[in-house]
Amino acid sequence: MGILQLLTRKKAAVVQKDRPVPKHIAIILDGNGRWASKRGLPRTAGHAAGSENFRRIATYCKNIGVDYLTIYAFSTENWKRSQEEVSAIMGLLKQYLFEALDEMEKDHIRLRFFGDLSRLAPELQELAQKTLETSKKYDGFQTNVCLNYGGRDEIVRAARAFAQKCVAGECTPESLNEQVFSSYLDSAGIPDPELIIRPSGELRVSNFLLWQSAYSEYYFTNVLWPDFTEEELEKAIASFNRRNRRFGGV
Ligand code: IPE
Ligand code: IPE
Ligand code: MG
Repeated sequence: MGILQLLTRKKAAVVQKDRPVPKHIAIILDGNGRWASKRGLPRTAGHAAGSENFRRIATYCKNIGVDYLTIYAFSTENWKRSQEEVSAIMGLLKQYLFEALDEMEKDHIRLRFFGDLSRLAPELQELAQKTLETSKKYDGFQTNVCLNYGGRDEIVRAARAFAQKCVAGECTPESLNEQVFSSYLDSAGIPDPELIIRPSGELRVSNFLLWQSAYSEYYFTNVLWPDFTEEELEKAIASFNRRNRRFGGV
């Protein structure tokens, strides 16, 4: 067992029962760098630990009956980081997609991507395409991986796509409403997340799911992402279940 696996090893997951579970949970995977710094490790080690933890939490979500898990893996702003860090993250994503291909065939899970993939390395784009093709065969648990994703960028791309259709004479500005606009977003056809979790203590949204989070419940915790266990997820779900969602009503 490698040092990272030892550091991230936690007790086996206990699947909780008898409580409602949000159909769509979204998570901002944050705190990898601080997790590594605290241990005197390079930031890239934090990303490796975070990626390992993502596999655990995704499996747990699938087992407790979540339909969609959306994860913020790389933002449109994250290109500002050092080339070394960006390539380490891209390498981990490649590895994840590669393994996911196998897993999808075995467990009939699906993957989808939010974000502008055109800026990613061709090899990564190809892998993403392959996982999308495989996903078409299945209808089980779905993970939405946000890659080169920004909420504002997503809205701009959607607006551009709609405008192009209008220019081509395929629709008119008057036909646009919230439902139609949603169908131009990366999340087309996917219900909005009921619960958005941000670990690591930051109290901000950082350009995540700006349109889709209009009525999401937020859960913030100081726990860093590589330390975020199944028990932490259960705490977030319990907090969600205690809330009174009014949607503007009384
Ligand atoms: C999240 O962890 C991973 C990405 C944004 C890709 P960070 O790398 O942001 O970790 P901190 O916030 O520096 O601790
Ligand atoms: C948000 O985390 C983006 C991802 C987790 C992919 P950041 O670490 O980039 O956010 P800021 O910079 O603290 O707002
Ligand atoms: Mg961060």
